Amino acid sequence: MPPKPPARAPAAESPPEPKPELSLEDLPGIGSTTAEKLREAGFTDLMELAVASPGDVAEAAEIGTATAQKIIAEARRKADVGGFESGTSLLERRKKLGRITTGAKSLDELLGGGVETQAITEFSGEFGSGKTQLGHQIAVNVQLPPAQGGLSGEVVYIDTESTFRPERIVDMAKGVGLDPSAALAHIHVARAFNSNHQMLLVQKAQELARDQPIRLLVVDSLTAHFRAEYLGRAELAPRQQLLNKHLHELLRFGDTYNASIVVTNQVSARPDILFGDPTRPIGGNIVAHAATYRVYLRKSKPPRRIARLIDSPNLPEGEAVFSLTTEGIRE
Ligand SMILES: Nc1ncnc2c1ncn2[C@@H]1O[C@H](COP(=O)(O)OP(=O)(O)OP(=O)(O)O)[C@@H](O)[C@H]1O
Ligand SMILES: [Mg+2]
Repeated sequence: MPPKPPARAPAAESPPEPKPELSLEDLPGIGSTTAEKLREAGFTDLMELAVASPGDVAEAAEIGTATAQKIIAEARRKADVGGFESGTSLLERRKKLGRITTGAKSLDELLGGGVETQAITEFSGEFGSGKTQLGHQIAVNVQLPPAQGGLSGEVVYIDTESTFRPERIVDMAKGVGLDPSAALAHIHVARAFNSNHQMLLVQKAQELARDQPIRLLVVDSLTAHFRAEYLGRAELAPRQQLLNKHLHELLRFGDTYNASIVVTNQVSARPDILFGDPTRPIGGNIVAHAATYRVYLRKSKPPRRIARLIDSPNLPEGEAVFSLTTEGIRE
Protein backbone atom coordinates (compact mmCIF):
# COMPACT_ATOMS: atom_id res chain seq x y z
CA MET A 1 0.00 0.00 0.00
CA PRO A 2 1.40 3.47 -0.80
CA PRO A 3 1.93 5.74 2.23
CA LYS A 4 -1.18 7.45 3.57
CA PRO A 5 -1.28 11.19 2.70
CA PRO A 6 0.16 13.30 5.53
CA ALA A 7 -2.34 14.01 8.32
CA ARG A 8 -2.17 17.70 7.40
CA ALA A 9 -1.87 19.02 3.87
CA PRO A 10 1.42 20.78 3.01
CA ALA A 11 1.88 24.23 4.59
CA ALA A 12 1.23 26.15 1.37
CA GLU A 13 -2.40 25.13 1.38
CA SER A 14 -3.15 23.84 4.86
CA PRO A 15 -6.64 24.74 6.07
CA PRO A 16 -7.01 27.45 8.69
CA GLU A 17 -6.88 25.89 12.16
CA PRO A 18 -10.48 25.54 13.25
CA LYS A 19 -11.34 26.91 16.68
CA PRO A 20 -12.24 24.20 19.17
CA GLU A 21 -16.01 24.11 18.92
CA LEU A 22 -18.08 24.32 22.06
CA SER A 23 -21.19 22.21 22.27
CA LEU A 24 -24.64 23.22 23.50
CA GLU A 25 -23.95 21.59 26.86
CA ASP A 26 -21.15 24.12 27.44
CA LEU A 27 -23.78 26.81 28.03
CA PRO A 28 -24.95 27.31 31.61
CA GLY A 29 -28.53 26.11 32.03
CA ILE A 30 -28.41 23.53 29.24
CA GLY A 31 -28.39 19.93 30.36
CA SER A 32 -28.40 16.90 28.13
CA THR A 33 -32.22 16.77 27.86
CA THR A 34 -32.53 20.40 26.79
CA ALA A 35 -29.59 20.00 24.44
CA GLU A 36 -31.26 17.01 22.85
CA LYS A 37 -34.53 18.91 22.32
CA LEU A 38 -32.65 21.82 20.80
CA ARG A 39 -30.73 19.59 18.44
CA GLU A 40 -33.91 17.88 17.33
CA ALA A 41 -35.31 21.29 16.45
CA GLY A 42 -32.22 22.04 14.38
CA PHE A 43 -30.18 24.12 16.83
CA THR A 44 -27.04 22.08 16.58
CA ASP A 45 -24.35 24.55 17.57
CA LEU A 46 -23.79 27.79 19.45
CA MET A 47 -23.89 29.89 16.32
CA GLU A 48 -27.40 28.70 15.54
CA LEU A 49 -28.53 29.59 19.05
CA ALA A 50 -26.77 32.93 18.89
CA VAL A 51 -28.84 34.04 15.92
CA ALA A 52 -32.13 32.40 17.01
CA SER A 53 -35.19 34.18 18.35
CA PRO A 54 -36.09 33.66 22.03
CA GLY A 55 -39.56 32.43 21.04
CA ASP A 56 -38.18 29.68 18.81
CA VAL A 57 -35.67 28.52 21.40
CA ALA A 58 -38.28 28.56 24.18
CA GLU A 59 -40.64 26.47 22.10
CA ALA A 60 -37.98 24.02 20.96
CA ALA A 61 -36.56 23.40 24.42
CA GLU A 62 -39.88 23.76 26.26
CA ILE A 63 -38.48 26.46 28.55
CA GLY A 64 -39.58 29.99 29.46
CA THR A 65 -38.76 32.92 27.19
CA ALA A 66 -36.62 34.58 29.87
CA THR A 67 -34.45 31.46 30.18
CA ALA A 68 -34.25 31.25 26.40
CA GLN A 69 -33.09 34.86 26.28
CA LYS A 70 -30.31 34.11 28.78
CA ILE A 71 -29.20 31.08 26.78
CA ILE A 72 -29.09 33.12 23.57
CA ALA A 73 -27.11 35.91 25.24
CA GLU A 74 -24.61 33.37 26.55
CA ALA A 75 -24.37 31.69 23.13
CA ARG A 76 -23.61 35.08 21.56
CA ARG A 77 -20.85 35.67 24.08
CA LYS A 78 -19.28 32.26 23.57
CA ALA A 79 -19.87 31.59 19.87
CA ASP A 80 -17.40 32.98 17.43
CA VAL A 81 -20.07 35.20 15.92
CA GLY A 82 -17.46 37.27 14.17
CA GLY A 83 -19.23 38.68 11.16
CA PHE A 84 -16.38 40.89 10.00
CA GLU A 85 -13.20 39.68 8.43
CA SER A 86 -10.51 42.09 7.29
CA GLY A 87 -9.78 42.36 3.60
CA THR A 88 -6.25 41.23 4.39
CA SER A 89 -7.31 37.99 6.03
CA LEU A 90 -9.87 37.39 3.30
CA LEU A 91 -7.14 37.72 0.69
CA GLU A 92 -4.88 35.37 2.69
CA ARG A 93 -7.69 32.84 2.85
CA ARG A 94 -8.36 33.11 -0.86
CA LYS A 95 -4.67 32.63 -1.66
CA LYS A 96 -5.01 29.15 -0.18
CA LEU A 97 -7.79 28.17 -2.58
CA GLY A 98 -7.14 24.72 -3.98
CA ARG A 99 -8.51 23.02 -7.06
CA ILE A 100 -9.34 19.42 -7.86
CA THR A 101 -9.26 18.09 -11.40
CA THR A 102 -12.43 16.45 -12.75
CA GLY A 103 -10.40 14.22 -15.05
CA ALA A 104 -11.49 16.12 -18.17
CA LYS A 105 -9.41 19.12 -19.21
CA SER A 106 -12.29 20.90 -20.92
CA LEU A 107 -14.48 20.59 -17.82
CA ASP A 108 -11.63 21.81 -15.59
CA GLU A 109 -11.22 24.84 -17.83
CA LEU A 110 -14.94 25.54 -17.74
CA LEU A 111 -14.63 25.67 -13.94
CA GLY A 112 -11.61 27.97 -14.07
CA GLY A 113 -9.08 25.19 -13.39
CA GLY A 114 -11.00 22.45 -11.58
CA VAL A 115 -13.36 22.21 -8.63
CA GLU A 116 -12.51 25.01 -6.21
CA THR A 117 -12.15 24.76 -2.43
CA GLN A 118 -14.12 27.06 -0.10
CA ALA A 119 -16.96 26.93 -2.61
CA ILE A 120 -20.00 24.88 -3.50
CA THR A 121 -20.05 23.33 -6.97
CA GLU A 122 -23.40 21.98 -8.10
CA PHE A 123 -23.80 19.37 -10.83
CA SER A 124 -27.37 19.17 -12.03
CA GLY A 125 -29.01 17.26 -14.84
CA GLU A 126 -31.46 14.50 -15.67
CA PHE A 127 -31.00 10.83 -14.67
CA GLY A 128 -27.91 9.25 -16.16
CA SER A 129 -26.35 12.60 -17.02
CA GLY A 130 -23.23 11.77 -14.97
CA LYS A 131 -23.74 13.55 -11.63
CA THR A 132 -22.93 10.53 -9.49
CA GLN A 133 -20.01 9.54 -11.72
CA LEU A 134 -18.53 13.01 -11.25
CA GLY A 135 -18.97 12.74 -7.49
CA HIS A 136 -17.07 9.46 -7.49
CA GLN A 137 -14.34 10.77 -9.80
CA ILE A 138 -13.66 13.92 -7.81
CA ALA A 139 -13.59 11.80 -4.62
CA VAL A 140 -10.77 9.81 -6.20
CA ASN A 141 -8.93 12.75 -7.75
CA VAL A 142 -8.76 14.83 -4.55
CA GLN A 143 -6.46 12.12 -3.18
CA LEU A 144 -3.87 12.77 -5.88
CA PRO A 145 -0.90 14.97 -5.02
CA PRO A 146 -1.22 18.65 -6.09
CA ALA A 147 1.13 18.11 -9.03
CA GLN A 148 -1.43 15.70 -10.47
CA GLY A 149 -4.47 17.86 -9.84
CA GLY A 150 -5.40 16.71 -6.34
CA LEU A 151 -5.01 18.01 -2.79
CA SER A 152 -3.62 14.87 -1.11
CA GLY A 153 -6.87 14.90 0.80
CA GLU A 154 -9.59 12.64 2.10
CA VAL A 155 -13.32 12.72 1.45
CA VAL A 156 -16.65 12.78 3.24
CA TYR A 157 -19.33 11.34 0.94
CA ILE A 158 -22.97 11.81 1.96
CA ASP A 159 -25.01 9.36 -0.09
CA THR A 160 -28.75 10.01 -0.02
CA GLU A 161 -29.83 7.68 -2.83
CA SER A 162 -27.71 4.59 -2.11
CA THR A 163 -25.84 5.03 -5.34
CA PHE A 164 -22.29 5.08 -3.96
CA ARG A 165 -20.42 2.16 -5.54
CA PRO A 166 -17.03 1.12 -4.13
CA GLU A 167 -16.47 -0.87 -7.34
CA ARG A 168 -16.52 2.38 -9.33
CA ILE A 169 -13.95 3.87 -6.96
CA VAL A 170 -11.71 0.86 -7.59
CA ASP A 171 -12.03 1.33 -11.39
CA MET A 172 -11.39 5.05 -11.17
CA ALA A 173 -8.48 4.72 -8.73
CA LYS A 174 -6.79 2.29 -11.12
CA GLY A 175 -7.51 4.78 -13.91
CA VAL A 176 -5.43 7.48 -12.20
CA GLY A 177 -2.77 5.15 -10.77
CA LEU A 178 -3.88 5.17 -7.13
CA ASP A 179 -3.95 2.06 -4.98
CA PRO A 180 -7.65 1.07 -4.97
CA SER A 181 -7.79 -0.07 -1.35
CA ALA A 182 -6.08 3.11 -0.14
CA ALA A 183 -8.45 5.17 -2.26
CA LEU A 184 -11.45 3.44 -0.66
CA ALA A 185 -10.03 3.86 2.83
CA HIS A 186 -9.79 7.63 2.30
CA ILE A 187 -13.47 8.02 1.42
CA HIS A 188 -15.73 8.23 4.46
CA VAL A 189 -19.21 7.31 3.23
CA ALA A 190 -22.44 7.81 5.12
CA ARG A 191 -25.91 7.00 3.93
CA ALA A 192 -28.41 9.74 4.83
CA PHE A 193 -31.83 8.32 5.64
CA ASN A 194 -33.76 11.59 5.54
CA SER A 195 -33.13 15.33 5.30
CA ASN A 196 -32.58 15.73 9.06
CA HIS A 197 -30.06 12.95 9.07
CA GLN A 198 -28.40 14.51 6.03
CA MET A 199 -27.95 17.78 7.94
CA LEU A 200 -26.71 15.98 11.03
CA LEU A 201 -24.05 14.24 8.94
CA VAL A 202 -22.48 17.62 8.15
CA GLN A 203 -21.96 18.07 11.90
CA LYS A 204 -20.41 14.62 12.07
CA ALA A 205 -18.17 15.57 9.17
CA GLN A 206 -16.85 18.48 11.26
CA GLU A 207 -15.76 16.01 13.93
CA LEU A 208 -14.07 13.81 11.36
CA ALA A 209 -12.31 16.76 9.74
CA ARG A 210 -10.55 17.57 13.00
CA ASP A 211 -8.53 14.36 12.76
CA GLN A 212 -8.48 13.62 9.04
CA PRO A 213 -7.33 15.89 6.21
CA ILE A 214 -10.78 16.14 4.62
CA ARG A 215 -10.57 18.33 1.51
CA LEU A 216 -13.80 17.33 -0.22
CA LEU A 217 -17.38 16.87 0.89
CA VAL A 218 -19.80 15.33 -1.61
CA VAL A 219 -23.58 15.38 -1.15
CA ASP A 220 -25.31 13.14 -3.72
CA SER A 221 -28.10 14.23 -3.92
CA LEU A 222 -28.49 17.58 -2.17
CA THR A 223 -32.22 17.91 -2.77
CA ALA A 224 -33.76 14.43 -3.16
CA HIS A 225 -34.80 14.00 0.50
CA PHE A 226 -36.00 17.58 0.85
CA ARG A 227 -38.06 17.23 -2.27
CA ALA A 228 -39.62 13.92 -1.19
CA GLU A 229 -40.40 15.04 2.35
CA TYR A 230 -41.76 18.51 1.78
CA LEU A 231 -44.55 18.19 -0.73
CA GLY A 232 -46.94 20.83 -1.90
CA ARG A 233 -46.95 24.61 -1.90
CA ALA A 234 -47.55 25.02 1.84
CA GLU A 235 -44.35 23.19 2.63
CA LEU A 236 -42.20 25.07 0.18
CA ALA A 237 -41.17 27.76 2.66
CA PRO A 238 -40.03 25.39 5.44
CA ARG A 239 -38.25 23.25 2.88
CA GLN A 240 -36.36 26.17 1.42
CA GLN A 241 -35.48 27.41 4.92
CA LEU A 242 -33.93 24.08 5.88
CA LEU A 243 -32.17 23.72 2.56
CA ASN A 244 -30.73 27.18 3.03
CA LYS A 245 -29.44 26.24 6.48
CA HIS A 246 -27.96 23.04 5.09
CA LEU A 247 -26.16 24.90 2.30
CA HIS A 248 -24.72 27.41 4.73
CA GLU A 249 -23.43 24.67 6.98
CA LEU A 250 -21.81 23.08 3.95
CA LEU A 251 -20.23 26.37 2.94
CA ARG A 252 -18.96 26.89 6.47
CA PHE A 253 -17.37 23.44 6.34
CA GLY A 254 -15.66 24.38 3.09
CA ASP A 255 -14.32 27.63 4.55
CA THR A 256 -13.11 26.07 7.78
CA TYR A 257 -11.25 23.16 6.24
CA ASN A 258 -10.39 24.73 2.89
CA ALA A 259 -12.42 21.94 1.33
CA SER A 260 -14.46 21.68 -1.87
CA ILE A 261 -18.17 21.06 -1.58
CA VAL A 262 -19.67 19.11 -4.48
CA VAL A 263 -23.44 18.65 -4.58
CA THR A 264 -25.66 16.99 -7.14
CA ASN A 265 -29.16 18.07 -8.00
CA GLN A 266 -31.94 16.61 -10.08
CA VAL A 267 -33.90 18.78 -12.45
CA SER A 268 -37.62 19.27 -12.58
CA ALA A 269 -39.84 20.16 -15.48
CA ARG A 270 -41.09 23.69 -15.82
CA PRO A 271 -44.53 23.66 -17.36
CA ASP A 272 -44.29 27.37 -18.20
CA ILE A 273 -41.43 26.97 -20.67
CA LEU A 274 -42.52 26.35 -24.23
CA PHE A 275 -39.23 26.80 -26.07
CA GLY A 276 -35.75 25.61 -25.16
CA ASP A 277 -34.89 23.28 -22.28
CA PRO A 278 -37.97 22.94 -20.06
CA THR A 279 -36.04 21.72 -17.02
CA ARG A 280 -34.22 23.49 -14.24
CA PRO A 281 -32.38 22.39 -11.08
CA ILE A 282 -34.47 21.89 -7.96
CA GLY A 283 -34.14 24.23 -4.99
CA GLY A 284 -34.79 27.45 -6.86
CA ASN A 285 -32.99 30.61 -5.89
CA ILE A 286 -31.80 29.20 -2.54
CA VAL A 287 -29.41 26.85 -4.31
CA ALA A 288 -28.73 29.44 -6.99
CA HIS A 289 -27.45 31.88 -4.36
CA ALA A 290 -25.45 29.43 -2.29
CA ALA A 291 -23.71 27.53 -5.09
CA THR A 292 -20.62 29.28 -6.43
CA TYR A 293 -20.38 27.16 -9.55
CA ARG A 294 -23.44 25.61 -11.17
CA VAL A 295 -22.87 23.07 -13.90
CA TYR A 296 -25.77 21.72 -15.91
CA LEU A 297 -25.15 18.33 -17.53
CA ARG A 298 -26.92 16.82 -20.47
CA LYS A 299 -26.54 13.67 -22.51
CA SER A 300 -24.99 13.69 -25.92
CA LYS A 301 -23.93 10.87 -28.24
CA PRO A 302 -22.79 8.11 -25.78
CA PRO A 303 -20.49 8.09 -23.93
CA ARG A 304 -20.38 11.87 -24.24
CA ARG A 305 -21.89 14.42 -21.94
CA ILE A 306 -22.14 18.17 -22.30
CA ALA A 307 -21.54 20.41 -19.29
CA ARG A 308 -22.72 23.99 -19.28
CA LEU A 309 -21.74 26.55 -16.67
CA ILE A 310 -24.81 28.50 -15.56
CA ASP A 311 -25.04 31.74 -13.53
CA SER A 312 -21.36 32.09 -12.67
CA PRO A 313 -20.42 35.45 -11.12
CA ASN A 314 -16.83 35.52 -12.37
CA LEU A 315 -16.49 33.09 -15.26
CA PRO A 316 -17.84 33.32 -18.79
CA GLU A 317 -20.72 31.00 -19.60
CA GLY A 318 -19.63 28.16 -21.80
CA GLU A 319 -19.80 24.47 -22.52
CA ALA A 320 -17.45 21.52 -22.24
CA VAL A 321 -17.71 18.01 -23.62
CA PHE A 322 -16.46 14.99 -21.68
CA SER A 323 -16.89 11.21 -21.72
CA LEU A 324 -18.02 8.67 -19.13
CA THR A 325 -15.73 5.68 -19.50
CA THR A 326 -15.05 2.57 -17.42
CA GLU A 327 -11.92 4.24 -16.04
CA GLY A 328 -13.97 7.33 -15.19
CA ILE A 329 -14.39 10.87 -16.49
CA ARG A 330 -12.21 11.59 -19.50
CA GLU A 331 -11.71 14.37 -22.00
N1 LIG B 1 -18.73 1.14 -15.18
C1 LIG B 1 -19.08 2.06 -16.06
N2 LIG B 1 -18.43 2.20 -17.22
C2 LIG B 1 -18.78 3.11 -18.11
N3 LIG B 1 -19.78 4.00 -17.93
C3 LIG B 1 -20.46 3.93 -16.79
C4 LIG B 1 -20.15 2.98 -15.79
N4 LIG B 1 -21.00 3.16 -14.77
C5 LIG B 1 -21.80 4.16 -15.13
N5 LIG B 1 -21.48 4.64 -16.34
C6 LIG B 1 -22.15 5.72 -17.09
O1 LIG B 1 -22.72 6.62 -16.19
C7 LIG B 1 -24.11 6.75 -16.45
C8 LIG B 1 -24.85 6.94 -15.13
O2 LIG B 1 -24.48 8.20 -14.66
P1 LIG B 1 -24.80 8.70 -13.19
O3 LIG B 1 -25.12 7.54 -12.31
O4 LIG B 1 -23.68 9.57 -12.79
O5 LIG B 1 -26.10 9.54 -13.46
P2 LIG B 1 -26.79 10.58 -12.49
O6 LIG B 1 -26.71 11.89 -13.18
O7 LIG B 1 -26.21 10.49 -11.14
O8 LIG B 1 -28.29 10.05 -12.55
P3 LIG B 1 -29.42 10.03 -11.39
O9 LIG B 1 -30.16 11.31 -11.54
O10 LIG B 1 -30.26 8.85 -11.77
O11 LIG B 1 -28.75 9.87 -10.08
C9 LIG B 1 -24.50 5.49 -17.14
O12 LIG B 1 -25.60 5.70 -17.98
C10 LIG B 1 -23.26 5.19 -17.95
O13 LIG B 1 -23.26 5.92 -19.14
MG1 LIG C 1 -26.95 9.82 -9.32
